[in-house]
Amino acid sequence: MRRDFLIFGSPLIEEEEIREVADTLRSGWLGTGPKTHRFEDDFRRYIGCKHAIALNSCTAGLHLALDVVGVGQGDEVITTPITFAATANVIVHRGARPVFVDIERDSMNIDPVRIEAAITPRTKAVIPVHLAGHPCKMDEIMGIAQRHNLVVIEDAAHAVEAWYRDQKVGNIGDITAFSFYVTKNVCTGEGGMVTTNNDSWAEEMRIKSLHGISKDAWKRYSAEGFQPYETLYPGYKYNMMDIQAALGIHQLARVEENLKVREWYWQMYNEAFADLPEIIAPVEKEGIRHARHLYTILLNLDRLSVGRNHFIEALRAENIGTGIHFTALHLHKYYRETFGYQRGGFPNAEWVSDRTISLPLSPKLTEEDIRDVIRAVRKVVAGCRKGAL
Ligand SMILES: Cc1ncc(COP(=O)(O)O)c(C=O)c1O
Repeated sequence: MRRDFLIFGSPLIEEEEIREVADTLRSGWLGTGPKTHRFEDDFRRYIGCKHAIALNSCTAGLHLALDVVGVGQGDEVITTPITFAATANVIVHRGARPVFVDIERDSMNIDPVRIEAAITPRTKAVIPVHLAGHPCKMDEIMGIAQRHNLVVIEDAAHAVEAWYRDQKVGNIGDITAFSFYVTKNVCTGEGGMVTTNNDSWAEEMRIKSLHGISKDAWKRYSAEGFQPYETLYPGYKYNMMDIQAALGIHQLARVEENLKVREWYWQMYNEAFADLPEIIAPVEKEGIRHARHLYTILLNLDRLSVGRNHFIEALRAENIGTGIHFTALHLHKYYRETFGYQRGGFPNAEWVSDRTISLPLSPKLTEEDIRDVIRAVRKVVAGCRKGAL
């Protein structure tokens, strides 16, 4: 058994990030400033989009996106129940109703066929979530949105490196939100980015991300001197700091290199579990580039004598940390009690929700760490196999 606990999702921070953060601290300019704008430029070039606006979270990005496209009181927004609470919480913050539709069992992403069936005259937007880094079926989703005049806001918290056919994620839907939270493939501690090719939405999101005060408000304490500013909207405090951007610049510069490590570990897991009918490995559809954010196994409960939570506990006893992505959101107290969702509503999401376990995948890990995870999973499977003593 492994001697120390293997933390799930710990980030790989290198000397370049440490030096850049120290340089930021010494510069005296900690808040939104030159490094944030450099990070935005780098990210815009990486995605190949027109605008990138750095924020303090992906949640902020999703909220701003819904705001500027005009989602408000009484509207409906379609999304998946297999996501983090933030995706649906921001819909509620706008006074709108989150309308969940079921997922595909294999990709675990929202099922476009079911989107069309859930559209009503009140539907304003769809938020597809590229779960674990696997892009949703964007051709179908964009087609439905066009036919029904809906806005598409992509939740790409897991999908910085992803492509769908020949399109980079961040350049497909109307607005895309990315996360740079600690566990994410690009990490700034807390942080996020929105991308869009729409000039007026970009301008409005930038202004609203900093209190709704006029455009270059971050410069108001710079050498250029005080510039009179006006409040144009009742905005938010969603701007990124240069301390965060200092991390992001170097994290982004290494994202492709790190992806190769993630791909290698992914392959190690796939090969190691190929002979275990108790484990369902992640599916990868044709024509996509997976961002390899989460290596998520599904337990074949028909062949195991324990449930998912017990399995996670057994891995923890082997000193292996794991994640759950996710417990279906319609089963959470707030969503059940407020919107009347209940078990049985979305069978595929519930099936995934009951079986899913994310294994450690960070490029910070060594091959030996991955082998420890593999050994632990195989040991737990052997101990929990139906019919095992
Ligand atoms: C699918 C998904 N959407 C949104 C978020 C929110 O990201 P952030 O923590 O940057 O606000 C997360 C965070 O884990 C997520 O997993």
